[in-house]
Order: sequence, then C-alpha cells, then structure tokens
Amino acid sequence: MNIGILASGKGSNFEALVKAFREENRVLVKCLVSDQPGANVNTLADQYGIKKLLVSFDKDRTKLDDETKIADYLIAQGVEWVVLAGYMRILKKPMLSRFPNRILNIHPSLLPSFPGLNAVKQALDYGVKFTGCTVHYVNENIDQGKIIAQKVVPVLEEDTLDSLLLRVHQAEHALYPQVIRDLIKSEKHSSLCQKH
Ligand code: GRF
Repeated sequence: MNIGILASGKGSNFEALVKAFREENRVLVKCLVSDQPGANVNTLADQYGIKKLLVSFDKDRTKLDDETKIADYLIAQGVEWVVLAGYMRILKKPMLSRFPNRILNIHPSLLPSFPGLNAVKQALDYGVKFTGCTVHYVNENIDQGKIIAQKVVPVLEEDTLDSLLLRVHQAEHALYPQVIRDLIKSEKHSSLCQKH
C-alpha cells in the first residue's frame, strides 16, 4: 500500500510512520506534502529520503487550485491512501472526491470530545480523567469523520500540559501505524472475499 502524508508542523507522527514502515514491505511512504516552508517535517523528509511537495497556497491562486495540485501530485506518485499528520488545512472537494474514504487523520483527544485546536489543553482544563487520541476518516467537517480507532491516555493528578502532551503523542505514534496495518489487512481480506 502506498501512502502519502500531509503535514504542516513538527512531524513527530510523520517520523513515527516512516520509522514504523521502513522495515516493512507492506506499506510504502511515497511522499510528504507540506504547506509550511519552515516546518520541521520538511527537514525530516529530507533526512529520511522521502520525496516532498511544498505547496505555497499563494494568495493570488484559489485554494481549490492548490488542492487540485496536491491531488494530482499524490495520484502521480501512486498514492492510494492519504494520511494527515498535523496538516493544518481543511480538505475540500478536489482531495475528498479523488480519495473517497481513503483519507485518515489523527486527533489528540477522544473524539467527539475536544475537537479543533489545542485539544490536549482543552482536556486538561476540563479536568477529564482520561483522554487520548483518535484516528478517523476525513470528511468535509473538521474532526467529524467516522472513527476508526482510539487509544486512551489517563490524565494524572500531577500532569502539566507538557507531560500530558508527551504521553498523548506517544499514544499517537503507536496507534497510527497500527491502524494503517489493520486497514491493509482488512482491504486484502475483502478483496480476497470478492475474488472467491
Ligand atoms: C498531533 O497531535 C496530531 O494529533 C494533530 O497534530 C499534531 C501533529 O503533531 N493532528 P506532529 O507534527 O506529528 O508532531
């Protein structure tokens, strides 16, 4: 399975996915698409030898044009599944229509609680005793696509934002590759069933 990763920031999930799949032949990280020229994730892509497309989202072009450019690039790279890893833009029709039910996102809370920005801080401020992360399909509504998997992280009395962020990130790094592996297994299974 060929995946393409879209990211805008630090890239810890990008790195976790690349590391998880580089020893395997079942999943290939074909490329990174980034919308932030200064983001650390670009450096990581260079470091791991992953091709990248930097999309500038120029103000004089429409966002849909830029998104079409991304979709064209991913298709040209042979990408079958799109994996969002801290990508800070809302996907629209050019991507959603070309990868129907094939775009995943990871969010740092147990959705539907705490969607949107600063989810870990929201959870800490609210006083919940358990939070975690969610992998879900992407649709046109932010953080509202069908949930695929979740991993629970307990909130400890002594937690600070930094300590909780760290554990939620660790949970993400374990969950995301596992969900992708499971998706391949179930795809293979269903295509075998269709053949018989
Ligand atoms: C992660 O917490 C992810 O859940 C959210 O954005 C963050 C990206 O972090 N969507 P990183 O860039 O992968 O370190």
